[in-house]
Amino acid sequence: MDSEDFQLAEEYFAFAIELAKKVGPMIRDAFYSEKEILTKSCTTDLVTETDQNVEKTILEAIKNSYPKHDFIGEESVAGGLKCNLTDAPTWIVDPIDGTTNFVHRFPYVAVCIGFVWKKERLFGVVYNPILNEMFTAFKGKGANLNDKKLKVSKEQDLGKSMIMTECGSSRDPKHLDKIFKNMQSVISAPVHAIHSLGSAACNICMVAQGGAEAYYEFGIHCWDYCAAGIIVEEAGGVVIDTQGGELDLMRRRIIAANNMSVAKSLSNVIVEQMELPRD
Ligand code: IPD
Repeated sequence: MDSEDFQLAEEYFAFAIELAKKVGPMIRDAFYSEKEILTKSCTTDLVTETDQNVEKTILEAIKNSYPKHDFIGEESVAGGLKCNLTDAPTWIVDPIDGTTNFVHRFPYVAVCIGFVWKKERLFGVVYNPILNEMFTAFKGKGANLNDKKLKVSKEQDLGKSMIMTECGSSRDPKHLDKIFKNMQSVISAPVHAIHSLGSAACNICMVAQGGAEAYYEFGIHCWDYCAAGIIVEEAGGVVIDTQGGELDLMRRRIIAANNMSVAKSLSNVIVEQMELPRD
């Protein structure tokens, strides 16, 4: 990435923030209305017309302004589009992270817009229009919640940490068994608590704002954690693979933490590493 690329990326960043603001009211209005609920891979993997409309609005805006850019979006992939991360400027979008929350009017939902170029994660925008929280970060320039700079917690000790994780949407007994074994191992590490907000992006942003020390999950997708991952890093935190190595954006697993000490200690108490089909 040269300085010209960075300058262009800053323009895309401003565009992404405006785009998130534009679709915010679509999510907010629908949040309080009756919804038709559809399912995808199983009866607990939910989608609504709003997920689809928000993604369509974002995709069209990007294609109009930047026709040569690539796009990976949750609902486009659900509709059969291939997930192919190349060196091209690529927008990675989740129209509503926390769709189950959205259906139940649990106010942790966010539109997520991440941007990757030459495989480098450059910026992230996570906007929760219900709580009016706009999280933004650009590589090397720090992270913000609305106008406030974000800073992760200073805690170094896993034993004094609050951990976020989720059960996810799969109800496959073998999958759930591993999730519960991990939860049992983590809670009895011991840690102060395990919490779930019901949205990977909101969980990661909670770590970015210092409200929890770490988040881990298996089975999520690049659109769930791309944007928020940049935000937690720019708030001073780290993102790594659940086994302790470098994060692989398409491997569908992550630890996001306030620092490497907590991240590595957490990885050591995750007893069941899970390998899922790649994005
Ligand atoms: C889901 C949320 C949830 C996580 C699931 C994701 P979606 O994303 O991030 O917290 O546990 O694995 O699929 O479907 O609401 O965009």
